[in-house]
Amino acid sequence: MFELERHKPERGIVVIFGASGDLTRRKLAPALYNLARQNLLPDGTVVVGYGRTEMTDEVFRNRLGESVSTFSRTQPIESDIWNALARRMFYQRGSYDGGDAYPALHRRLLELDERFGTGGNRIFYLAVPPGVVPAILRNLSSVGSLERRRRCDEGTCYLRVVFEKPFGHDLESARRLSNEIDRLLEEPQIFRMDHYLGKETVQNISVLRFANSIFEHVWHSASVRYVRVTVAETLGVEGRGGYFDSTGILRDILQNHVLQLLTLVTMEPPASLSADAIRDEKAKVLRCLRPLEGEEVVRSVARGQYGRGVVDGVEVPAYREEEGVDPNSATETFVGLRTYIDNWRWAGVPVYLCAGKRLAQALTEVSIEFKEAPRVLFGAMEGVELKPNRLTLRIQPDEGVSLRFASKVPGLKMELRDVEMDFPYGSAFPAASPEAYERLLLDVMGGNSALFARRDEVELAWQFATSILEGWQKRPPPEFPNYAPGTWGPVSAERFFAEGASYADAGDR
Ligand code: BG6
Repeated sequence: MFELERHKPERGIVVIFGASGDLTRRKLAPALYNLARQNLLPDGTVVVGYGRTEMTDEVFRNRLGESVSTFSRTQPIESDIWNALARRMFYQRGSYDGGDAYPALHRRLLELDERFGTGGNRIFYLAVPPGVVPAILRNLSSVGSLERRRRCDEGTCYLRVVFEKPFGHDLESARRLSNEIDRLLEEPQIFRMDHYLGKETVQNISVLRFANSIFEHVWHSASVRYVRVTVAETLGVEGRGGYFDSTGILRDILQNHVLQLLTLVTMEPPASLSADAIRDEKAKVLRCLRPLEGEEVVRSVARGQYGRGVVDGVEVPAYREEEGVDPNSATETFVGLRTYIDNWRWAGVPVYLCAGKRLAQALTEVSIEFKEAPRVLFGAMEGVELKPNRLTLRIQPDEGVSLRFASKVPGLKMELRDVEMDFPYGSAFPAASPEAYERLLLDVMGGNSALFARRDEVELAWQFATSILEGWQKRPPPEFPNYAPGTWGPVSAERFFAEGASYADAGDR
């Protein structure tokens, strides 16, 4: 998607804050390696890690080497490619809130520019908790590392800053953060990461809708019965209990990944493939998303927290027993809700959004269920129970697109059954898809922001999520835990999903 828009990346220095953290190990280092392996990383790209852990360049390189061997999607590692990249990797120890380390970092970046010809091009990748972001920006600015913006305006080099999610904690904190950032950077320099936008199948949503003629004719309230977005995980909090307990699934997944998927599926055709044209349309959807406030939070939102249980024969702890989680925690690990997009295209069509941990199946998908065929011909036949047509975009795993429709069962009787017409990515395109982080890092290097969220989108999404959070705060939390691992969430979620939409095609209850 948006290939026409993409600029060719130029070499520069990628400075990773949070270089000793999990994201760097699991995602960023493997993505850099795989870009180099595909010959997509601009020649001479330099990587500088910044973190609180004391280590030498050599130790940093070895640690990232081990991470790449463990987490790279391609194996075995091609050592000549890794070694060439590792030789241009450096490490700078320092605290985030100031001290000598920032001037030292600044000097080092200038030296590396001289040595590797990176021309002052900078990407600061902030793979750190949001609380330390303002301090990092202020410190970078005070030593002159953000000053390059002026030269960038003249088009001689680039300065870009990548912000990992969560981008704020609620509407107010997101606004405060954006105000801080806007004081130092221009919008085209700001890359707000939502890694779902880099997934192949997510990029394909727009292709499916706008490169084909058949779908748009039925893509509206006259034909669609409901739209549903599900992000279901079987995993628990996986060692991130501390972070998750102060976040919850509404903030962690629904506010960003789920709403981003929804906007791509329901937006109007953009005027062009430019980043702003696309983001204008996504923001319009969010503007029309019906807020759930007051009593509506009780009627239309279900929240849950998993208890202890057995998944695939293995006993798993309750959420409250996970490391780093308050034993009396009222944080939700499941959210399911029903809302509407109050615009011309979608008026009256229920939108179901669901995200949860420790659910029955790991699957992310978008379903569009169509209205039933008139019950006059086959639908009126005795014994025939036809399900409505349903188009499912399987984002992961088992990536693909499938369409449910009725078919005659071969034989002399007139018997009907639902069948699935399936397009599986895996067999249609044998080459393995790149990881989302490869696509997104490359786009940052090329200055392409189509797959990144803009300030207004982020704030509109927070506005929606914050009204639910406020509604929850006004009421005592439900009796937690209220669902068992390996199920489809709390019973309270069934009341609106039972209207016709079960959570997931593969997970019908
Ligand atoms: C992250 C969330 O943004 O996305 C995690 O913080 C979640 O809680 C993860 O597990 C899911 O990403 P993916 O790519 O594995 O679906």
